[in-house]
Amino acid sequence: MFLEIKELKVAYKTVNGKSIVLNNFELNLDKGDSISIVGESGSGKSTLGGAITRLLPPSGEESGEILMNGKNLLDLSEDEMTLVRGTEIFMIFQNPLNSLNPVKTVGFQLMEAAKIKAIRDGTPEPNESDLEKVVLDALASVRLPDPDQIIKRYPHELSGGQVQRVVISMALILRPKLLIADEPTTALDVTIQAQVINLLKQLNKEYGMSIIFITHDLSLAYVISNKIMVMYAGTIMEFNESKTIVKNPRHPYTIGLLRSVPTDYKTNSRLYYINGSPPSFFNLPKGCRFSPRCDKAFGKCHEVEPPLISEGGEYKVRCWLFE
Ligand SMILES: Nc1ncnc2c1ncn2[C@@H]1O[C@H](COP(=O)(O)OP(=O)(O)OP(=O)(O)O)[C@@H](O)[C@H]1O
Ligand SMILES: [Mg+2]
Repeated sequence: MFLEIKELKVAYKTVNGKSIVLNNFELNLDKGDSISIVGESGSGKSTLGGAITRLLPPSGEESGEILMNGKNLLDLSEDEMTLVRGTEIFMIFQNPLNSLNPVKTVGFQLMEAAKIKAIRDGTPEPNESDLEKVVLDALASVRLPDPDQIIKRYPHELSGGQVQRVVISMALILRPKLLIADEPTTALDVTIQAQVINLLKQLNKEYGMSIIFITHDLSLAYVISNKIMVMYAGTIMEFNESKTIVKNPRHPYTIGLLRSVPTDYKTNSRLYYINGSPPSFFNLPKGCRFSPRCDKAFGKCHEVEPPLISEGGEYKVRCWLFE
């Protein structure tokens, strides 16, 4: 197994006390797997990305095991972890400015990335013009106009969509073993979004790069990854192959999310939405976390939190309907 997450717990210290956002979280990823993590705002998706890369904000603390090729990332020193981040794992943050250094030009940072990659591939002293070609090719693949201009600028001198594309081009250059992409296409318009998604799929297929794709958009998740994990209020509600999630969803929450995806452009039909909103981590409901909003909930659902119930192999669903 390439990545094995076991009993991961993440809590944030806040003025109101500690809030436990992830608890007993588990995830397995093979080399070349592409998994999407889907869920409403606040379900803990970015927290998961921060936990894997050990880049949680200072108020966050994590425990458990995150094994990458057998070594626990939580046991590494800060220096060792920095090395892992440069070579094995790369994260595209939801706010892409967080992936870049504000006081270095875009070109400088991309050249550094190209250099790290060249050295890793066995060219200890790569020449400048080769590196520059790698950088300009990467910028062209994300369709950034005027790359010669862009590389001279500082991150804050670019638009949101441009920064996002710069960060994606950095991932293209570094070609990490694991890419964690947190809502990487939200600031892009649809044609560029499609292009970027295709690029990520290509990296996944051609180089066996594993991808954890974080999104609130189930249709995007379906396009990009072969497996989908649906999260709600910090817990895994359902995990299955993407086509099963979309064509034969089991959990009432997944069914609700799917119904909320607009599909009919012709009529003026009202969009469906799941009533209510996710609970606060300080005041979780008794029983299933989704039960107050679930139209299929019965007695037990309001009393006891369901375990993850096996749906065959690694696939599972957290719902008493499938006991
Ligand atoms: N620095 C922090 N301090 C305290 N609580 C935090 C912090 N960051 C996140 N949280 C809380 O953790 C929970 C999960 O947040 P997270 O950002 O992981 O959600 P998300 O699924 O990525 O949401 P979104 O779709 O809006 O990006 C939320 O309740 C959030 O308020
Ligand atoms: Mg997020």
